[in-house]
Amino acid sequence: MRISVIGCGYLGAVHAACMAKLGHEVVGVDVDAEKVALLASGRAPFYEPGLPELLAETMATGRLTFGTDVAAVAGARVHFVCVGTPQKRGENAADLRYVDAAVDALLPHLAPGDVVVGKSTVPVGTAEAVAARVAAVQPEAVVVWNPEFLREGFAVQDTLHPDRIVYGLPPGAAGETAGALLDEVYATPLADGTPQVVTDYATAQLVKVAANSFLATKISFINAMAELCEATGADVTQLADAIGHDARIGRRFLNAGLGFGGGCLPKDIRAFMARAGELGVDQALSFLREVDSINMRRRVRMVDLAREVCDGSIVGRKVAVLGAAFKPDSDDVRDSPALSVAAQMGLQGAHVVVTDPEAVANAAQRWPDLRYAATAEEAAAGADVVLLATEWQEYRDLDPVAFGRVVAGRRIVDGRNVLDPARWREAGWVYRALGRP
Ligand code: UGA
Repeated sequence: MRISVIGCGYLGAVHAACMAKLGHEVVGVDVDAEKVALLASGRAPFYEPGLPELLAETMATGRLTFGTDVAAVAGARVHFVCVGTPQKRGENAADLRYVDAAVDALLPHLAPGDVVVGKSTVPVGTAEAVAARVAAVQPEAVVVWNPEFLREGFAVQDTLHPDRIVYGLPPGAAGETAGALLDEVYATPLADGTPQVVTDYATAQLVKVAANSFLATKISFINAMAELCEATGADVTQLADAIGHDARIGRRFLNAGLGFGGGCLPKDIRAFMARAGELGVDQALSFLREVDSINMRRRVRMVDLAREVCDGSIVGRKVAVLGAAFKPDSDDVRDSPALSVAAQMGLQGAHVVVTDPEAVANAAQRWPDLRYAATAEEAAAGADVVLLATEWQEYRDLDPVAFGRVVAGRRIVDGRNVLDPARWREAGWVYRALGRP
């Protein structure tokens, strides 16, 4: 099937390549000429494991093309809207300007029978508004809401083998026809037995923000337990293991530490609260305010721990921060807990050097005042304290003995609870962690 993908960021670029992999003929469109030029030459504009190989494979078939001219979408039967919905500056609400612009650009090119598929994470009510705008210009086109649940770092796998497929359809025959067309697009994952939920617009839009809110709540729950552990001498990692054995609770997303960041969870829970307020049900989501505060408190606690191990002051101390990305296997630094800690320490008078296997360039663009190093050893040379802020495998694998030779003082704060405290202490390190004795 001929398909278009509007917006080629983390979501759209992966979606376009995966749809081509499924056998469709895909045109990806983005307003960012630089990004399009990279993609058109088969290179990924961001770090995502497996994407470069997938781009090479699918572009070689001739089924995948990228461009900046939206007129290229003509002839496609299904148009995926994959643009970002960041947080509005100074407000909790989502900024829908890119969704609006994508729909505006698409409208003149829509033919009867075309299906516009929203994948962006949006406040509930957006699909209805988009449908009204489409109907005003091309009454025979249909809008479907089909939220995306991919995780950065696993985006290719999550798109080719999703754990569920959700359609929000308008009522009536037009919705059914659009759903059937989308079934053709997703024929391969559906044939693999992927669970499918076919529902209305409101439910489909809510599924996405409800899922992200649940995940954020789970993380903040265990981080709240970490605060209790710190006050009582208990160990939050053992606590998580023990409660995680209860299948109703589950161990996943119970990793206590510096908390959640990125371009999704933080802004999604805030936008959800803002939308609930508009709908007059703000009380229903007031707990998310607490989820957000617990999460932000972890960053402050990390700085406090660093100060504690430095005998009460970080002024003039050399601090190495391992990690800049909001999580491993990503170069995304949006709302990164690691950079937030690094920046706070810099402001408080420490000499901070940040390193990351993939995210240094993005970090330096966003936080030009911080200093950066290419490797953990370089960052830690002469350091008084090391902070592990993003749990890349290479930081988990550090040898405490060899690494101890590069620092000035063997002090480490494990912000992700991934190091073996006994091993580090044996090698002469002062080891501290969030929620562990
Ligand atoms: C998240 C969701 O997991 C995806 O399902 C969703 O599709 C996506 O947002 C989205 O809305 O597009 P992502 O932002 O890639 O995916 O990252 P996650 O893997 O969810 O991690 C989010 C943050 O939580 C990271 O900073 C991570 O370090 C932190 N985290 C995760 C913890 O602190 N503890 C955990 O146990 C798990």
